[in-house]
Amino acid sequence: MKSISLIQFLIEERRAGHVNAELSLLIEVVARACKRSAVATNKGALGGVLGMAGSADALSMNIQGEAQKKLDVISNEILLEANAWGGHLAACASEEMEDPQPIPDMYPKGNHLLLFDPLDGSSNIDVNISVGTIFSVLRCPDGVVEPKAVDFLQPGTTQLAAGYVVYGPATVLVLTFGHGTHEFTLDREVGSFVLSRRDIKIPEEATEFAINMSNQRHWEAPMQRYIGELLAGKEGPRGKDFNMRWVASMVADVHRIVTRGGVFYYPLDAKIKAQGGKLRIMYEANPMAFIIEQAGGAATTGRERIMSLQPTALHQRVPVFLGSKKEVEVATRYHVAADGAQG
Ligand code: AHG
Repeated sequence: MKSISLIQFLIEERRAGHVNAELSLLIEVVARACKRSAVATNKGALGGVLGMAGSADALSMNIQGEAQKKLDVISNEILLEANAWGGHLAACASEEMEDPQPIPDMYPKGNHLLLFDPLDGSSNIDVNISVGTIFSVLRCPDGVVEPKAVDFLQPGTTQLAAGYVVYGPATVLVLTFGHGTHEFTLDREVGSFVLSRRDIKIPEEATEFAINMSNQRHWEAPMQRYIGELLAGKEGPRGKDFNMRWVASMVADVHRIVTRGGVFYYPLDAKIKAQGGKLRIMYEANPMAFIIEQAGGAATTGRERIMSLQPTALHQRVPVFLGSKKEVEVATRYHVAADGAQG
């Protein structure tokens, strides 16, 4: 089979009218930056990249109040630096930065906004389990020269592109421009991403679910009921057995779903209710929802479609239910019905 590099694929997408030159360059730059993050991640202890950022006395914290790992900081810097000078961006925003980062004055500015979680699943770095990068691309609103946080607050339906890269046994990029979801695998010897699956389709039915079961006692009643029924297996009301997986790196859990189906849930629970959920809408939930929907799956908050939400803050959190369409619909139906019964 003739292999198709990411660059060739982007040229095809330009010819098909799915992307313009600026967006194509943006994706090339992000992919190149992710190759550098893959190299840094793969060096492990030999690269001095494991452990926490800052010092033992003064850990480096991000805006979410989470202690940063060295690789969170390194991957953030790699993405910022790579994207500063190409003229394809108006600004970047990241999980690791409170406010958007403008493009330095000495460089030309473009018409796109880039959001990213530079290193998703960072609790897994030190134990050599897959981590990754998630990104989302929006159009900069017309007439905005210096984008502020408010300019990023666009519903997921307006995303021009979304993707993630998994730094696992293989480095894999999954990408959508709203015309299907496609997978590229990094050929480490050649140094280029090669198309490995075009137009991925997630099975509609699921037999695997991913959830952090240690939060079970804090979940809302419809989630307790729903997962209880999955756990009851063949003997329960669902009449079939479900298997469970939880990597605690969303990129890895989502990649499993993109590969063989299943569902991923990070529902609301009593511990995180005040903050609205665990995962961030702008650079985790929305890009993953776009990728999953383009592969025929569904993505909701348990009540509404994620991509239809109007975000109200750059680091806003939401509950996330995504994956095989029919299964996400069952979980969502239980929540909507419970809300209806409460009046
Ligand atoms: P982060 O970007 O801070 O590494 O967040 C990780 C996320 C997501 O990747 C994963 O699914 C979830 O948090 C793990 O949550 P638990 O700690 O509850 O397992």
